[in-house]
Amino acid sequence: MTLDAAAIAVFLEEVRAADLAGPDAAEAFRIHWLGRKGRMKDILEAFRDVPGPEKREMGQHINGLKAAIEARLAEALAAGATERVQAAVQEDWSRPSGAVLPGTHHPISRVRREICTIFESLGFAIAEGPEIEDDWHVFSGLGFPPEHPARDMQDTFFIADSPGLLLRTHTSSVQVREMETRQPPMRIIMPGRVFRNEAISARAHCMFHQIEGLCIDEGVTFADLKQMLLHFAQAYFGPQARIRLRPSYFPFTEPSAEVDVYWGLETEVDRRITKGTGWLEILGCGMVDPDVLAASGIDPERYSGYAFGMGIERIAMLRHQIGDLRAFFENDVRFLHQFTGAAG
Ligand code: PHE
Repeated sequence: MTLDAAAIAVFLEEVRAADLAGPDAAEAFRIHWLGRKGRMKDILEAFRDVPGPEKREMGQHINGLKAAIEARLAEALAAGATERVQAAVQEDWSRPSGAVLPGTHHPISRVRREICTIFESLGFAIAEGPEIEDDWHVFSGLGFPPEHPARDMQDTFFIADSPGLLLRTHTSSVQVREMETRQPPMRIIMPGRVFRNEAISARAHCMFHQIEGLCIDEGVTFADLKQMLLHFAQAYFGPQARIRLRPSYFPFTEPSAEVDVYWGLETEVDRRITKGTGWLEILGCGMVDPDVLAASGIDPERYSGYAFGMGIERIAMLRHQIGDLRAFFENDVRFLHQFTGAAG
C-alpha cells in the first residue's frame, strides 16, 4: 500500500459514508477498521515505510482518520451498538475489576449463634437432636399422652409408612433426650429446626427454628427463670429491653408462661412485626413438671428445673426489623447480603 494524503482522504470518505445502522453493522465496521486484521493495522504497517521527513504530516493524517473512526463508533454507540463497540471507544486497561462479593452467614444462623453465645457465657452447653423423631420424645415423654387435646396446639407432619415417626414440632424433644442420658446439674441450650403443618404467611411458616433451654439443679425456682430471661433480653436487645410474662399452658411445665419482649417502639421500622404495640411474643417457658422429670429418670424430690423454647425467626424479625418471615427462606441475595460481618 502506498500511504499518502490522497489515500487517507479516500479512507476518510469511506469511514464517513459507512452505514452503521444497527449493532451488527457497527460491530462489522469496528472489526473492519480496528480489528486484529483490520485496515488500521495495514495503515500503521505502511506508516513504517514513510520517509522520515513526511512522517510528521502523515502521522497527523492517520490520527485524523482514527479520530473519524472513533467518532463514528461513538455515534453508533449512542444509537445502541454492542458492548464491544463501547469497549473499543472507551478502552481503559487501568480500570479496576468488578468487586467479588464474599458469602455471608444466613441471618438465622447469625441470630442463632448470637443467642447461643449469650447462654454459653452463662455456662450453658449446646446439645442437638434429630429432626425426625418418635412420638415419645416429641409428645408422650412431655406429658402429651395419645388423644391429649394439647397435641392439637402443634399441627404435626407424620411420616407416611413409618408409624410413630414424625417431624419434630418443637425442640423440647431434645430436652427429653438430654434428661434421659444425663443427670443434674444440667444447663443446656438446644438449637434446631422444627416443622408444623401451618399455612405459610408473613408471621408463620411450616418450617422454622427454635432454641430450647433447660436448667435442672437443686433449688431452681421460677425466679431464676425470670431473671435468666430478662438477662437474655437485655444482653441481646440492649439494657432498655423489657419482658412481660403471661400465664400459659404447656403439658410439660407447671406453672407455664409465654414471654413477650419490648424493645421500644422508637426502634420499630416495620409496624407489622408487633402490630404497633412494641411487644412481641418470643418464647414459651415454665418449671419442668415433676412427672416429666420422673419419666426421664430424674428424681423430682431432689431436683427442680426450668425450660424455655424461643423462636429464632421471631427474634431475628424484631432485631433486624424484618416484616415478613418468608424473606428468611427465599434466598434472595439482595436480602441476604445485608447481613455481612462476623456474628457474635
Ligand atoms: N415447646 C414449646 C413450643 O414450641 C415451648 C416451650 C418450651 C414451652 C419449653 C415450655 C418450655 O410451643
